Amino acid sequence: MSEKRVAVVTGAASGIGLAIAGSLAAAGMRVLLVDRDAAVRDRVRALADKGFEVDALVADLSREDEILGVARHIKASAGRCDVLVNNAGIHPKNKGDKFAMPEISLADFETVLRVNLSAPFLLCRELLPLMKANGWGRIVNIASRAGRTFIAPVGVHYSASKAGLIGMTRQIAGEFAAFGITANCIAPGRIETPLSSQSSPSIIEKAIQGIPAGRLGTTDEIAAVANFLASEGAGYVTGVVIDVNGGVFMS
Ligand SMILES: NC(=O)c1ccc[n+]([C@@H]2O[C@H](COP(=O)([O-])OP(=O)(O)OC[C@H]3O[C@@H](n4cnc5c(N)ncnc54)[C@H](O)[C@@H]3O)[C@@H](O)[C@H]2O)c1
Repeated sequence: MSEKRVAVVTGAASGIGLAIAGSLAAAGMRVLLVDRDAAVRDRVRALADKGFEVDALVADLSREDEILGVARHIKASAGRCDVLVNNAGIHPKNKGDKFAMPEISLADFETVLRVNLSAPFLLCRELLPLMKANGWGRIVNIASRAGRTFIAPVGVHYSASKAGLIGMTRQIAGEFAAFGITANCIAPGRIETPLSSQSSPSIIEKAIQGIPAGRLGTTDEIAAVANFLASEGAGYVTGVVIDVNGGVFMS
């Protein structure tokens, strides 16, 4: 079994996931970066060059067999899982614009739920027993402001997936609180990443006008909160959603 704390971060080839993986590695954890994009291997090489203990796994988290493969890999390679960050997510854009409900098919709806909600469910179900066995664990689920409130350009599939993730996280937090395991969500507002830059410039400009901080957030600002939730010191913080959105909810 690995001596160091072991963290799994999904969707770690890009954006928020990559920043979180780097930050947990810098905090001294051994980190497995999981992504369907094979570029995750290049990201791991870059982090390893900085002296971090990191590993890459290419897996498509829309597929149950590949998710179970991630869990098997962690059990075989590390024998423990201390931190699970469910970050991989998809957010279909309608040519950069608003996604009206009548345009969303059942297949579209289920595709988004599969990646954004079913994958976290399966990974939690498979990895929680490892945390329970050690009497320590941290689950950090990356939700969204879209799971908290109405946002006009967001599709119902995306907001439903993120609201579902928040509900599931609360339930897990309650079921596992007595075993030294915490489960929390981060609900980012608009963060500058490849995913959010798919929106049209007019949507981004309008979004900034509604943010008291007057700018988009950075991936490092999400990573800092994830790092706190994954830390020793956050042991009494569970079942909450931390909104990281530049003050939008004050308006
Ligand atoms: N960027 C924002 O403004 C913002 C706001 C709120 C919430 N979020 C959430 O933050 C998370 C990360 O978003 P981001 O902006 O960094 O996006 P991103 O597109 O930059 O990164 C997402 C990563 O997830 C991976 N991924 C997608 N589907 C996958 C699958 N089926 N299997 C494995 N990997 C898969 C992608 O390959 C990519 O590397 C998402 O859950 C997103 O919903 C982002």
